[in-house]
Amino acid sequence: MMGNLTIRKRIMVILTSVYMISLVVAIVGGYFVLKQEATREAIEKTELFAAVMSANQLYMAQNIRPEIKNRLPDLYFPEATVGIQMLVETAELIQQSYPEFLFRVVSPNPLNPGNLSDSFENQLISDFNSRRYQHWEGFVEKNGKNYYAAAIPIEARGGCIWCHSTPDAAHPEMVEEYGTESGYGYKLGEVVGARVIYVPTAKAEELVRKKLVIFVSTLSVLFLIAFVLIDRVIIRSVVQPIEELTRVATDISKGRMDREFEVKSNDEIRALADAFNRMKVSLEKAISLIKR
Ligand code: HEC
Repeated sequence: MMGNLTIRKRIMVILTSVYMISLVVAIVGGYFVLKQEATREAIEKTELFAAVMSANQLYMAQNIRPEIKNRLPDLYFPEATVGIQMLVETAELIQQSYPEFLFRVVSPNPLNPGNLSDSFENQLISDFNSRRYQHWEGFVEKNGKNYYAAAIPIEARGGCIWCHSTPDAAHPEMVEEYGTESGYGYKLGEVVGARVIYVPTAKAEELVRKKLVIFVSTLSVLFLIAFVLIDRVIIRSVVQPIEELTRVATDISKGRMDREFEVKSNDEIRALADAFNRMKVSLEKAISLIKR
């Protein structure tokens, strides 16, 4: 098939094929590598967020709550004693700077209706309860947006019961604020909720797309420059000299013996032109011999 094409077209077909193959390799390979990079970044962000929140909770549990309970045993001050409340409120502050991040402490049976779990979170909590896993991480879609999420179970322990067993046992101020309908009936050892951190992947995905576009455009520009340069070299060094040789050979064949094979370059075509000139000299000698 290629045999019927001119040299110039043949080289262009080869270059175009190489370009197409490079493009496919660049897009598929680049997408794979960049996507992995974006996932790793989402995981790192999620884990960092989780670590900061856990550290906050631990700080309260170790340094603040025992002191308050010791000195003011009758005080109802959930901001300094209820770990979950501190987490929810700290997360709200963080969200002022990072509104796209979601931090949820959820339960199918919440005191605060804002903490009610959705169907995905309900499934997580029931999986945690059946001890399918102790920790869950992965991609999820929530309200039409993609997130990387990390979840851990929240288990009812001895210290939780006085607030979460029955409204009678809980502090009256708490009951007044949250009512008596929901958030009670915790049993020891039961997974009552989950802490779920959602880090959006949209920005990372957008970045992957932008990087790919830059990568593919750079590759295309380089190929375009190569196309133009190679094309000019082929025209100047191969096509034009061969056309000139053909014209001269045609003229000579028609008897115009004054024509000379001339090539400006100093390469294989020059060697061919020199050989043609020698052949022309021999031809002239042979013709004059015959004429005599
Ligand atoms: C001093 C009372 C108190 C204690 C003790 C307490 N909680 Fe709570 N808990 C609350 C309050 C108040 C909220 C609601 C916070 C808010 O408004 O977001 C809450 C919220 C929660 C939530 C989020 C869902 C909801 O009910 O709104 C979970 C889950 C939870 N607590 C589990 C626990 C666990 C597990 C323990 C024991 C380790 C515990 N709590 C100890 C008072 C308490």
